[in-house]
Amino acid sequence: MELLKRAYLLARRNQKRIVLPEGNEHKILRAADILLKQNLAHLILLGDPGEIRQTAESIGVELGNAELVNPLDDPRRAIYADLMATLRGDKGLTREEAFEMLDDPLVFAPLMLKNGDADGEVAGAVRLSGDVLRPAFQFIQKRPEVTSVSGASFIFTNNPEFGYEGFLVFADCSVIPSPDSHQLAEIAVLTARTTRMILGVEPRVAMLSFSTKGSASHPLVDKVVEATRLAREMDPDLIVDGELQLSAALSPKVAEIMAPGSDVAGRANVLIFPGLESANIGYSLMQHIANAEAIGPVLQGMSAPVNHISRGCTVIQLVNLVTLTALQALGIGEF
Ligand code: ACO
Repeated sequence: MELLKRAYLLARRNQKRIVLPEGNEHKILRAADILLKQNLAHLILLGDPGEIRQTAESIGVELGNAELVNPLDDPRRAIYADLMATLRGDKGLTREEAFEMLDDPLVFAPLMLKNGDADGEVAGAVRLSGDVLRPAFQFIQKRPEVTSVSGASFIFTNNPEFGYEGFLVFADCSVIPSPDSHQLAEIAVLTARTTRMILGVEPRVAMLSFSTKGSASHPLVDKVVEATRLAREMDPDLIVDGELQLSAALSPKVAEIMAPGSDVAGRANVLIFPGLESANIGYSLMQHIANAEAIGPVLQGMSAPVNHISRGCTVIQLVNLVTLTALQALGIGEF
């Protein structure tokens, strides 16, 4: 896959510091083994260094030059607690409370990014998505011009008839449970940018629904129609169309019948789902039934690169997400 070859090359050349808060977990250590042997990043593993070394040895993983950091006794705790109290003093967080919160590696890791001690974070192989996202939102924070952070997933369908050389970009499969029309429009605009940056192609964005061009009437359809209008307003150059059913978005034959004249229908490479339920289920169907390979999700709209992965992830998916995180840390795109 060209996408990954280019990503590996850039990551290897630049050695970004990526923190993995679940440092003592088998899956993380197996991914670390590959990342270190392939020289893709400078890794920071959080946890008790003695325990991490013992676990690594028990599964035959060499830790090489990985940095092992124990959040429980790290000298930077005092600095991080001050920073947290400054960031969230207005929400009532005291320095003492902040100091205690730092026991949790999922709180410690975002503070490493915020303080410039790491360039990116990947977590969620064991802990729940919400536990990864909340401290990231609170302490790394979104970029000021963005309303809501969302996630874009790269789905390699193994079928060059679809999208860009077989790649489709799905969003939002990972963050916003029930986006309103403004959030949906923003997801479309941000995902188009992510697609340009990572795939290097012009995005053709389909706003998905169970209706195509007025074939059904329902408030849920109205939401997607409004989101399409808002997306065009936010980015007048965006090639976007909606509302479209999935078949109209992907099949030229169906597009001819249901959405003639559309510059997206039949050749979409970005699919914006109407909500997290359909997006997350669609993404899983592609992996488990259609044998597609998934890379991501990458979060878009954060001030610094933090990404969460599903607990069902494979070791290779972790390696790929750390590599994409390193690319984000390089600032090759505004995610
Ligand atoms: N963008 C930016 N900030 C956000 C967003 C967002 N999309 N969502 C919440 N926040 C902020 C809130 O404003 C709040 O900030 P504040 O504390 O300064 O006021 C903070 O994050 C925490 O928000 P809460 O309201 O406490 O959290 P909420 O209950 O809204 O949960 C969460 C946020 C965790 C992202 C929730 O929406 C969620 O669970 N999403 C689904 C995650 C998931 O399970 N994904 C599925 C699988 S993941 C995968 O496949 C990789």
